[in-house]
Amino acid sequence: MKIAILPGDGIGPEIVAQAVRVLDALRSDGLPIEYEYGVLGGGAVDATGSPYPEATQKLAQAADAILLGAVGGPQWDNLPREQRPERGLLGIRKQLGVFANLRPAVLYPELANASTLKPEVVSGLDIMIIRELVGDIYFGEPRGIETRNGERVGYNTMVYSESEIRRIAKVAFETAMRRNRKLCSVDKMNVLEATQLWRDVVTEVGKDYPQVELSHMLVDNAAMQLVRNPKQFDVMVTGNMFGDILSDEASMLTGSIGMLPSASLDANNKGLYEPCHGSAPDIAGKNLANPLATILSVAMMLRYSFAKEDAAQRIEAAVKSVLAQGLRTADIFEAGTEKISTTQMGDAVLAAL
Ligand code: NAD
Ligand code: IPM
Ligand code: MN
Repeated sequence: MKIAILPGDGIGPEIVAQAVRVLDALRSDGLPIEYEYGVLGGGAVDATGSPYPEATQKLAQAADAILLGAVGGPQWDNLPREQRPERGLLGIRKQLGVFANLRPAVLYPELANASTLKPEVVSGLDIMIIRELVGDIYFGEPRGIETRNGERVGYNTMVYSESEIRRIAKVAFETAMRRNRKLCSVDKMNVLEATQLWRDVVTEVGKDYPQVELSHMLVDNAAMQLVRNPKQFDVMVTGNMFGDILSDEASMLTGSIGMLPSASLDANNKGLYEPCHGSAPDIAGKNLANPLATILSVAMMLRYSFAKEDAAQRIEAAVKSVLAQGLRTADIFEAGTEKISTTQMGDAVLAAL
């Protein structure tokens, strides 16, 4: 089990440190875990001039799985685009071909009051958002900023090929088959051709999965329905940009963006595992960040890349137990619970493990 660890920027190193303690504990209990660290993002630009340097590329390609913190921060926001930390993140996703991004929005019952939504709206929530991760407007060409008719024009291209849609649709239907056989595909086919093709191809793939109840929803309505009645959803599948936005929205149903883990998989279940949130520059270095999304990403790694379902469930049970003890980082704190730091949350998870 060779794991590359890329802590990144901002709160990245703080939250990854707690997740590594979990890996260490599993290793002491006999899992053959080996890991090595690499740089990615702003720190990598500072050290090497590149947000995804060659040494990190080699490390990531040789690993069975990658654990990533987060990248980016205001000090790198004015760099040329190809040197920006986010370009490193997009680069590693694209190079590894991890096209299927699974973002499970699960509400731990203990956090029913931490959400800004009413407890009855979110209690029992368990949605799997499947976001296509290596296509769409994020990567489409042409793109740029240029002068036309004496003024600046910025442009990007939303593009999806049939094969790109087909492979993510298959992952979505297979996931739905293992869950409640209900899939909602989200697009904007009333306006955008790229997503008309998306709807057509998803519908075609659906013919191979007659047991799955497939529905389609326009993305603006989906954003509204997610806060109106989120429990109508089971598996959702959508493109790169809509998935980015809808998953941050869904994270608040679970109490905090600090709770939402993710797995990004290629066709062979090699995976990149990272929390859905960013580098949180506003709280970086303060020992305040919630490390649970990153710790839960390790659980996803054990489940999807290493087929260690027992170890994955052990981590998830430890998280549940810590929440049941009333221990909370600031982002999920509420009256009657105990506010603790990032490292104390790590201590508590290890003790519960
Ligand atoms: P963000 O997710 O970093 O932060 C949004 C808000 O959520 C902030 O108030 C932050 O304090 C809070 N938050 C995030 N994670 C938290 C955690 N674990 N515990 C407690 N609170 C948490 O989004 P942003 O502010 O829009 O972006 C900041 C930087 O991060 C930008 O440079 C952006 O490009 C980058 N980013 C990186 C990733 C990634 O590496 N995967 C994802 C999103 C954003
Ligand atoms: C995410 C982030 C990234 C994305 C950024 C930092 C490139 O927001 O992982 O959700 O948009 O994919
Ligand atoms: Mn995002």
